[in-house]
Amino acid sequence: MHMFKINEDYLKLPGSYLFSAIGKKVAAYEEEHPEQSVIRLGIGDVTQPLAPAIIDALHGAVEEMAHAETFHGYAPDLGYEFLRTAMAEKDYKDRGCDIKADEIFISDGAKCDSGNIQEIFAKDNRIAVCDPVYPVYVDTNVMAGRTGTYNADTETWSDVIYMPCTKETNFAPELPKETPDIIYLCFPNNPTGSTITKPQLQEWVDYANKNGAVIIYDAAYEAYISEEDVPHTIYECDGARTCAIELRSFSKNAGFTGVRLGAAVVPKDLKCGDVMLHALWARRHGTKYNGAPYIVQKAGEAVYSEAGRTQLGEQVAYYMKNAGIIYDGLKSAGYNVSGGVNAPYIWLETPKGMTSWQFFDHLLEHAGVVGTPGSGFGPSGEGYFRLTAFGSYENTVAAISRIKEI
Ligand code: MLT
Repeated sequence: MHMFKINEDYLKLPGSYLFSAIGKKVAAYEEEHPEQSVIRLGIGDVTQPLAPAIIDALHGAVEEMAHAETFHGYAPDLGYEFLRTAMAEKDYKDRGCDIKADEIFISDGAKCDSGNIQEIFAKDNRIAVCDPVYPVYVDTNVMAGRTGTYNADTETWSDVIYMPCTKETNFAPELPKETPDIIYLCFPNNPTGSTITKPQLQEWVDYANKNGAVIIYDAAYEAYISEEDVPHTIYECDGARTCAIELRSFSKNAGFTGVRLGAAVVPKDLKCGDVMLHALWARRHGTKYNGAPYIVQKAGEAVYSEAGRTQLGEQVAYYMKNAGIIYDGLKSAGYNVSGGVNAPYIWLETPKGMTSWQFFDHLLEHAGVVGTPGSGFGPSGEGYFRLTAFGSYENTVAAISRIKEI
């Protein structure tokens, strides 16, 4: 009998998506222990309501949609000009970076962009990723058939270049020994909360330009940077226009995890021979995507208004206060901790030689606190654990006091 075929690369994926697996585990635990109140500091999902300036913009846009004269249907291919211009000015021009509005593609989030962007590259390109790493970068390349075979013992893919980020290097990657085609970087980093300085990022840009590689730079956590020498965008580096795509998110800086908005920046100078990656991404965007909703893009514009910036600065400060509580609390309890200074993630070494998943179970059972096992982000994450600062202040304080008690 004739039978259609599936994309067998999907079958190579071990287990389910990290945060789905954790969600299921926690749901099962809650069903068995209805008496236990569980505090979730696992997935980096925000908890504070949208800022008033954003709510006002949403209300205003909804009202516009109610009248024929101000109604909006399909959004323009690249996104609305008002949002792209605001980003080009505030995210780039104000930082001395040369990015034009028409090099910015509005999307429904950096997760989708970071998963989709690999489509414009050949299947036999080799990717290099930090280890540990946000799992979407690797999993979507597995789905595309770009990663070779999986070794269950080492939990690595044969064709992926892993760049270990260990405490010896302050959780920063070193330049790879083998030459990759596509390099995924995320700073401030998810999951370790580490950062690199502008001169360090410049080395990556120089390396990519010299070796004919492209950098996919995930800047989702840029709003959490508190130190001076940490770059807010890769385009602060000379030469980044010819080697880097940058992904921006509204999830963490403005609480849009449930609203959905992001952007990919593809400079027109970024070329493979004569072909502009901008043209390929524009073709893909136009063909497969109909744009983030008008009301959401209006909300995104409000992120750049004076009121929006003030209110969101307060929101970031709220979460970073949580980060300080987690960092200081764990440190005083004898844990080895890092991150939490330029990022909303705290990275800790599991105590007493426990594996990451053993510590996950231990924390859930004895403290009712959910975190993320470091090994879920890659083999070098084994023996580590991530806590997020995105909980409420009250829950963060309660979680740390529960952890200290065990
Ligand atoms: C995380 O917890 O790593 C992030 O929230 C996941 C995401 O942004 O998709």
